[in-house]
Amino acid sequence: MQNKPAQILIIDLGSQYTQIIRRSLRYLGFHSVIISDVGRPTIERPTSILKWVEENKPKCIILSGGSASVYDADAPKIPEEILTLGLPILGICYGMQWLAYVHDKNSIQKILESKSYGPVEIKIYGSQTSLLFRNLGEKLKAWSSHGDSVKYPPSGFSATATSQGGAVLEAMENVTKNFYAVQFHPEVEQTEDKNIILNNFVSNICGCKQDYDKKDVIEEIRENTRKALGDGTAIIGVSGGVDSTTLASILTPTLGDQLKAFMIDTGGMRKDEVERVKEITQKAEINLEVIDKYKEKFIQEIGKTIDAEEKRAAFRKVYGEVFKDVAKGYGATHMIQGTLATDLIESGSGSAGASAMIKTHHNVDLDLGLKEIMPLQDYFKFEVREMARLFNLNEILTARQPFPGPGLYLRVVGVPVTAELLEIVREADHRVAEILKKHGVYDKIAQSIVALLGVNSVGVKGDGRVYGYSLVVRTVETVDFMTVKGFYLSPAICEEIISTLVKHPKIVRVFFDWTSKPPATTEFE
Ligand code: XMP
Repeated sequence: MQNKPAQILIIDLGSQYTQIIRRSLRYLGFHSVIISDVGRPTIERPTSILKWVEENKPKCIILSGGSASVYDADAPKIPEEILTLGLPILGICYGMQWLAYVHDKNSIQKILESKSYGPVEIKIYGSQTSLLFRNLGEKLKAWSSHGDSVKYPPSGFSATATSQGGAVLEAMENVTKNFYAVQFHPEVEQTEDKNIILNNFVSNICGCKQDYDKKDVIEEIRENTRKALGDGTAIIGVSGGVDSTTLASILTPTLGDQLKAFMIDTGGMRKDEVERVKEITQKAEINLEVIDKYKEKFIQEIGKTIDAEEKRAAFRKVYGEVFKDVAKGYGATHMIQGTLATDLIESGSGSAGASAMIKTHHNVDLDLGLKEIMPLQDYFKFEVREMARLFNLNEILTARQPFPGPGLYLRVVGVPVTAELLEIVREADHRVAEILKKHGVYDKIAQSIVALLGVNSVGVKGDGRVYGYSLVVRTVETVDFMTVKGFYLSPAICEEIISTLVKHPKIVRVFFDWTSKPPATTEFE
C-alpha cells in the first residue's frame, strides 16, 4: 500500500533487515514508509526526514539496524531533532546504539574484532511492566547481528532485557519520552516473539490503527503498473518461478496486448521445466513464447570462469543481450520485472535503501535502454505466494520451491560449467526432489539444492579407482530467504539420496549442507 499515507516511519540505517521490518508490519496489518538517510533519494525515500515527518505526521518512528558503528566517520546521520518531536521511537540494533550514543557519548562499547550474529537467549526484566514486552515471558530466543553494543542505559533510560549471562544489554527504555530500544532483531522470524514486540510498539505504545489489507495489493500493483506503462509496450520474462509467473498472471488481464510474455531457455533450467511452465502459463491464460536459441551461448560464456561473481556477471551479460534482442523484436518500450525486495537488498541496489551488496542478481539494475517497472519490489517471497493464492493460481505453482534465475549454472561449483555437468546436476536435482517427495518432506523444505563440487576425490566403483566429483545436497527452511536454517534430513533419506546419486559413474561422494544463513547464503554462489 505505497499509495497511502503511513502512520509508521522506518528510518533505514543500512540494515539487511529494513525491508523485513516493513514486511512484518504489513503482516500485522500496518502500512509503513521507509526513508533511507544515507543518500539515494527516491519518491518513497526522500532525504529530508524532518520535512517528511512534518508533511505526513506519522505516529511513530522505527530506527533500523545497520552495519556502521556510531564512531564511524561515515555513520548514518539521523537528525537529532527527531528526539524532540514528541513521537515514540523504537531503535533496533544500530538504532539502539544511536539512541544511547546521542544521550551519552560514553555508553557504547566498541567491538573491534568479532561481531556477534546468530541466536541469543534474552532475559526480559520488564515483561510485567514494560509495554514493549507485554504478553511475552521472561525468556526469549532472539536473533542478533551486531558489533558494538550499549554498555549501560543512559540517564533517563532503564534496562529491560539482557543476554542470559547479563553480558549484553539487550533492551532499554525511557517511558517518559516514549523511547524504546532493542539490541536484537524483533523483525526476523528467528526471534520467536511472533511479532509481539513490533505489535506492542505500534499498537499499544503508539496507538496506530490497522490500515493494510492484503487484498488491496493486486489492484494496487495493476494500477501502478498501468500508470507507469502508459501507452507503451512491455516485455516480461517468465522463468516459471513463483514471482514472474504470478506477476504475469496479475498483469495479463489488465495490460492485454501491451504485455509480451516470453521465456528464455537458458540451458540451466530444471528437468522438464520448459514443458511445465508452458502448461502453467496456458492455464493462467498467459500468452507465452519460449525462446531457446541462445542456450549454447549461455554455456559458452559462463563456462569461461569458475569465479562465482564472474559467472553471475557472465550470465547477466548474456541474459541482457538476449533480452535486448527480444525487446527489439517486440518493439518494447518497458520491461517488467518480478524482482523482489530480497533481490534488491542483497544486490545492495539503490532501490532497496542502504544495505550492503551480497551477490549480483541477474535481473537487478539491468540496463537495456528500456524503462523498468518492478511491481513486486517491496514484497517478499511468502507475500507473493499469498498473492498467487488470492489470484487463484493453481496450488502446484504456489507450492513450488523457488529456483534462481541463473539456475543450474550456480550449482556447478569450482569447475567450468559444461553441458555434461549441467546434465548431471539437472538429473540429480530431479532425483533428490523425487526422494524428498516420496518421504513426504519436500513440502516442508523451503528449498533443496543439489550442487556439483568440482574438487576431485578418490572413489572406488566396480573394483576400479574413480577420481571423480562430489555432489552436495542442501536443504533449508525459511520464510523469506533473508535468513535460513538447515532442514536436517533423516538418516534413511540421506542414505537413499546417497545411493541414488553415486550411481552416476563420475560421482564418488555426496555431502549434506545444513549451514544457516548467515553466515552461508542459500545458494553456493
Ligand atoms: P541466497 O543464495 O541469496 O538465495 O541466500 C536466496 C533465494 O534467492 C534465490 N536466488 C536467486 N534468484 N536470481 C534469482 O532469481 C538470482 O540470481 C538468485 N540468487 C539466489 C535462491 O535460490 C534462494 O531461493
